[in-house]
Amino acid sequence: MKRIMKPALLTVAIAIGLSACATAKKSSDYDLDFSKQRGSAKTMQVNGETVAYRAYENIVYVQKPVDTVYQSINIYIPEAYFNGGSINGFTADTAPIFFPNQVGGYMPGKPGEPGKAGFGPSTGKADAMQVALSQGYIVASPGARGRTSSSGKAPAAIVDLKAAVRYLKANDKVMPGDAGKIISNGTSAGGALSVLLGASGNSADYEPYLRSLGAAEAGDDIFAVSAYCPITILEHADAAYEWQFNGIKDYQSMNISMLDYKVERKLVPGTLTDAQVKLSDALKPQFPPYVNSLGLKDAAGRPLALDKNGNGSFKRYVEAHIMKSAQKQLDAGKDLSDRKWLAIRNGKVTGMDFFAYAKAAGRMKTPPAFDAVDLSAGENQLFGTATVDKQHFTAFSQQHNTAEGATRADEHTVKLMNPMYYIGQAQNPQNWRIRVGTADRDTSLAIASLVSAKLENSGKTVDFAMPWDQPHSGDYDLDELFAWMKQVSAQAK
Ligand code: DHB
Repeated sequence: MKRIMKPALLTVAIAIGLSACATAKKSSDYDLDFSKQRGSAKTMQVNGETVAYRAYENIVYVQKPVDTVYQSINIYIPEAYFNGGSINGFTADTAPIFFPNQVGGYMPGKPGEPGKAGFGPSTGKADAMQVALSQGYIVASPGARGRTSSSGKAPAAIVDLKAAVRYLKANDKVMPGDAGKIISNGTSAGGALSVLLGASGNSADYEPYLRSLGAAEAGDDIFAVSAYCPITILEHADAAYEWQFNGIKDYQSMNISMLDYKVERKLVPGTLTDAQVKLSDALKPQFPPYVNSLGLKDAAGRPLALDKNGNGSFKRYVEAHIMKSAQKQLDAGKDLSDRKWLAIRNGKVTGMDFFAYAKAAGRMKTPPAFDAVDLSAGENQLFGTATVDKQHFTAFSQQHNTAEGATRADEHTVKLMNPMYYIGQAQNPQNWRIRVGTADRDTSLAIASLVSAKLENSGKTVDFAMPWDQPHSGDYDLDELFAWMKQVSAQAK
């Protein structure tokens, strides 16, 4: 927020006027001027401390919403910023904006509320939004449409997050906080969207969708990305899964209504059929050509590649992150002698057996894990259209289709959901923090590894780690997350 309010309001008015030219503004359109919002004063206890803040909830962030429940944002502002105060070294002019989406399972996600984070069992501990407010961040939690609604198919969720970013940027001058310092956060499908939001900043590819919604006239680039266990690179995730789990026939699977990491999961054991084993055997060899096509390099400039059997430097790159995580445990005095897949000598991790690790972690999905041949995966529904609920999105699963009359999503829509096309091409943030636990089987560990390697190769600063034994979840290391946020916030835009 800048101090001089009047020219600022004028800017918003002009901006809204401009977008009106593009989309023929009607008087029934939603007003995108934040200064007209009336907040309510609130307090909450965060780790024993009283935090005063103002809540502005359910603000529709586009002029022409198709779904006002999800195309809305909750904004929370520390009270101190209305009185010239500072918190944690931040002021009304400089406070970064924490931007946590609530999407799980590619389902619709409502804007979040502090103290109501919908993940995991209630621990009684402060959630990310509460910690953010107590540490002087503005919290802006966007809602986004999702796969179960006919208007929420890909790319709706990413378009919505971009529109919410544009709202914040268009209102920078009339709202406390610095919209040049938006830090995105999300888990699983929400982690994928967080990555994609950073990767595709200001890309023209999303412009037609944003224009038809009457998004605010502003950029949608962001400052930094935090992502937990991103379920992304969907069109190559089936091959990646079989690269990791081929040869493992027993599994523990669940219904797609339980994909959402916030929902309690009931896992049902099973064994792959002969037909599924064949699919796994056919998918696994598709992964090395994909990895090799990316031309990635390690920190020393050596190629990250795989041979036709799926071995090579990229596999060692993934293993190195698992081994680093194990070493951290050993250094903290933990006994890992029960992990037979790990080679330990004199307190040092000296090697690992990737297949034995995968077997111990356990297969959770049947092949193809994401583009199911019978259209039964959540991602099939994500790639539906307004009139077709579920579609294939890979050539492989369309060829092996078993569902009646199944169609395939168009390639452009599939591209709009994959950050790998945009990293290094669009306006990317410098700072990234990516986490995926060693006990996570929702997608291959290769997926987050590919995103990290691609970011590193395009000169970005990536804090990438695989927390030990951490299952498919997020926001479990708030002290570390907020230490990283504070450190990157001190950097220039
Ligand atoms: C999520 C989990 C999955 O296994 C998946 O395929 C998609 C999304 C999730 O928790 O968001």
